[in-house]
Amino acid sequence: MSNAFRSFRHRLTALAALALPLMLAACDEAHPRDAYAHPAGDASEISAWFYNLYLILDTIIFVGVVIAFFAAIIKFRKKPGDNTLPEQNWGDSRLEIAWTIVPTLVVLGITVPTLGGLFELAKRPDQNQKIIEIDVVGKQWWWELDYKKEGINTGNEMHVEVGTQVMLHLTSADVIHAWWVPRLSGKRDATPGRNYPLNFRPKEVGSFDGQCAELCGASHALMGIRIIVHPKDGPDSYESWVKHMQEGAAKAATPEQEAGQKVFMNKGCVACHTINGVAELAPGSRSRTSGPNLTHVGSRDFIAAHTLKNTPENIARWVKNPQEVKPGALMSNLGLSDQEAKDVAAFLSNLK
Ligand code: CUA
Repeated sequence: MSNAFRSFRHRLTALAALALPLMLAACDEAHPRDAYAHPAGDASEISAWFYNLYLILDTIIFVGVVIAFFAAIIKFRKKPGDNTLPEQNWGDSRLEIAWTIVPTLVVLGITVPTLGGLFELAKRPDQNQKIIEIDVVGKQWWWELDYKKEGINTGNEMHVEVGTQVMLHLTSADVIHAWWVPRLSGKRDATPGRNYPLNFRPKEVGSFDGQCAELCGASHALMGIRIIVHPKDGPDSYESWVKHMQEGAAKAATPEQEAGQKVFMNKGCVACHTINGVAELAPGSRSRTSGPNLTHVGSRDFIAAHTLKNTPENIARWVKNPQEVKPGALMSNLGLSDQEAKDVAAFLSNLK
């Protein structure tokens, strides 16, 4: 055995030793974005059904081909002492017909139900029912979410109701992004100048994470999504979330929060962010083009589009040096001092 081959073999063994636990880990339950084993909405159930159908079909075909392959190797191998040429022939009509018909049937067998699924997913939902309609605008590198009817503008964390039809209208303000929350629905591009619908009906209460799925620049990987599915009733219902969001921002209550509000108003944050009742472009305006509406930012689970847990320490770190958290982030580094960043964090965390 040559040295080169030996070191190659060692490397391969090491790689296998590394990959195996990773592959096994991929089978466990702690995978919040796994649509195929755990769909949580009608659209993702359709995707999961097709995924599993193809998996079964492909496994049958794969096993069949491997069995035929090894059967041929064993049956037609060279026997000891046999130096004659095998029978020389050309073509076999039965084989030719078989390997034309079988793949055709396989392709048809996949195409026909797939078309049915595509039409099902593209169907416009019945308009005589409660529909939560949200305009979604992809931006480098966050999502603006606008609930027109309800008058709510927010970012990155979408709130909906279990069992209620959701209709998204997706577009982009800059480059092409793609909305993808696997457990609730398939992907859909958010393209500048276009408006694409995406419909789903969540079936489970809970938080479902997703990710921008179209390479959109330096912080594409840090453009996360969370969908919070509320129950229909109770203190945590969707309707009580709507009511809460329609209220203005909490008043700064401590000297630190008041200092933070001053920094927010005087150092430039207000040029890009709206806080209803505190910092508005025009009275009643819900959004500004560049930064998320922060009226209730303190109630979000994450900041910077699912990049950091929403804690005062993380907000301070984010406003102090956005590009350190998110490469290429378009939020300006305003040169805040440590104290100013801390005060702004106290002010924003209070905006529950
Ligand atoms: Cu937005 Cu990738």
